[in-house]
Amino acid sequence: MKKIMPVYGTRPEAIKVAPIIKALQDADDFDCVVTVTGQHREMLDQVNELFGIEPDHDLNIIQPRQTLNMVMAKTIDGLDAILEQEQPDAVVVQGDTTTSTAGAIAAFNRGIPVVHVEAGLRSFNIFSPFPEEANRKMTSQISSLHLAPTSVSKANLLREAVNEDDVYVSGNTVIDALLDVVDKKVPFEDEALQNVQKAVEGGQKLVLVTTHRRENQGDAMRGVGRALARLSETHPDVLFVLPAHKNPVVREAILPFLEGKTNVVVTEPVAYGQFTHLISLANVVLTDSGGVQEEAPGLGKPVLVMRENTERPEAVTAGTVRLIGTDEERVYNEVTELLTDSAAYERMSNAVNPYGDGNAARRTLSAIRELLGTGKREAEFDDGLGN
Ligand code: UD1
Ligand code: UDP
Repeated sequence: MKKIMPVYGTRPEAIKVAPIIKALQDADDFDCVVTVTGQHREMLDQVNELFGIEPDHDLNIIQPRQTLNMVMAKTIDGLDAILEQEQPDAVVVQGDTTTSTAGAIAAFNRGIPVVHVEAGLRSFNIFSPFPEEANRKMTSQISSLHLAPTSVSKANLLREAVNEDDVYVSGNTVIDALLDVVDKKVPFEDEALQNVQKAVEGGQKLVLVTTHRRENQGDAMRGVGRALARLSETHPDVLFVLPAHKNPVVREAILPFLEGKTNVVVTEPVAYGQFTHLISLANVVLTDSGGVQEEAPGLGKPVLVMRENTERPEAVTAGTVRLIGTDEERVYNEVTELLTDSAAYERMSNAVNPYGDGNAARRTLSAIRELLGTGKREAEFDDGLGN
């Protein structure tokens, strides 16, 4: 038995690592020890609960308005004793959060191989997204196995002279998670969302909005708030739903603009199964989220991304995702176009799925076996992009 320790701390990591944890738990040749840092709390627990994952270790590091250095320091310090105690054969980290990079550093410093899930994403701007572009590059420097979701991310790693034998295209586990829940059309617990569903079924249009990125906080996010307020006034027949991130900085920037708007529904973070149901009801998705950019294209939903760049160019190339930045006027105009110009809408609403086929977790296990000398890798995921 090889002991594998996934380490994660935020909502998106939890969603994307859950299929791997399930596969490890189902396999006879692995012992899976789950460690969470608690960089997020409610938003992390919501995902673990949905997928029935009970962590073996929980550092519970969260603090209101935590700084990057607090998260980094508490994670590395807290993990050290757990790694000493558990002596895993490999540590699995996901993506580009501070938990992820701190987890990789803690494992590397103890000589434990790091498996990096969702490796090789690059925006090519070290300050955007901040600090994620730097985090994922740092993790790439110290990982033993780089699980690239697509051929685009593999090519990025090879350009950085990462050893080709250590890179493997697995597909993105977010599609495994999505396919696990989306067809269930999980019923909404929140009455306001139940009413949204009825309205959509009655023919009303829905714009689904999420925002949280650190580099958008402040003026940019206030501009988005103003754009949403104007959109809700000029399109009184359209519903706007914003599941608000728990970060108080985000809420303070955006929510004051939405008060009293009867066609704007602001909710707490929506549990993942219900959130994918919400995406499936939406006409337009307006977001700065990484994960939502990967999920919505698979469901044929046009995605307007409130960022200047993206490390996920695959669906932009396919035409389903458009980068629009955060300028108030641009956000207003782009959403208006998709709500009023059916030809423009049709052009963006093709279902594309370059990110995965639902088998990324199985492939990931095969690559871990090869890393640890107990098996052979499966064929790589073919994203059809020909890179
Ligand atoms: C983090 C990640 C970001 C990821 C995002 C997903 C870093 C640097 N950032 O950003 O890459 O896209 O998660 O959402 O790792 N909070 C709660 N409860 C929660 C979650 C957050 O109260 O369940 C509040 C806390 O006050 C916390 C603040 O939100 O201090 C910010 O959380 P933090 O993890 O530092 O940053 P995010 O913006 O969530
Ligand atoms: N998500 C969710 N509930 C919500 C909003 C988002 O379950 O209310 C999911 C979404 O489907 C995606 C993930 O959370 O899988 C994205 O998380 P977030 O936007 O916080 O982080 P990012 O992906 O930008 O790192």
